[in-house]
Amino acid sequence: MRIYRAENYQALSRKAANIISAQVIIKPDCVLGLATGSSPIGTYRQLIDWYHKGDLDFAEVRTVNLDEYVGLGPESAQSYVYFMHHHFFDAINIKPANIHIPNGLNHDAQAECARYDAVIDSLGGIDLQLLGIGRNGHIGFNEPGVAFEKFTHCVNLTASTIEANQRFFNSPDEVPRQAYTMGICSIMHARKILLVASGADKAQAVYNSFFGPVTPNVPASVLQLHQDVTLVADEEALAQVKAHGLL
Ligand code: F6R
Repeated sequence: MRIYRAENYQALSRKAANIISAQVIIKPDCVLGLATGSSPIGTYRQLIDWYHKGDLDFAEVRTVNLDEYVGLGPESAQSYVYFMHHHFFDAINIKPANIHIPNGLNHDAQAECARYDAVIDSLGGIDLQLLGIGRNGHIGFNEPGVAFEKFTHCVNLTASTIEANQRFFNSPDEVPRQAYTMGICSIMHARKILLVASGADKAQAVYNSFFGPVTPNVPASVLQLHQDVTLVADEEALAQVKAHGLL
């Protein structure tokens, strides 16, 4: 595992964007696994900036997103498909046909998850998977207790995740209770993993995930078993790691 310490969110976003750019430059038709949430927004902003400067070309890039709420589609401002278009896709030259996100409007969970796994397979797997991390150590919507051997599946969101995500909705009642998410197995099959973490509320999860025991109770801890993981975190998110003298 490689850890990059960033002074603040801006520096973190620049470093993460550097790593993604390197991937796109080395393999212009690479498959990027992407995440939503607040953590990667700065990274997307930086990539857009470099695209506008002519340093990056997304014409051949293919993307697969980690997850989507069940019941929400592109028309809903809280859906992840909407988020990705708003924060990234609409500002770059990616081809719509190369964008893949679980379809939250398909209520047949088994069919949708199987379809999504087949999409990832048909692309030849993920070259670089970008991840954020939940305060409870979740990755994607793989909550504590998840079985490590899952591919794409439908999950019931935990109270902690509903609470954390309610900031994007008018009220907690509006937060969907289920989501489709790539499983731990889907994530672990990515050839490279880049996890971005920012802020004091991630400090415990970062410490537990990268320096604690590997356990389903901390889903991100499984990343310790991956051969090519890069953590880019700001000083606040690294506070517990530093407090334990590990940096
Ligand atoms: C997003 C996702 C989630 C987030 C995590 C952190 O697609 O799968 O696991 O990465 O909840 O969210 P933020 O970055 O908003 O703190």
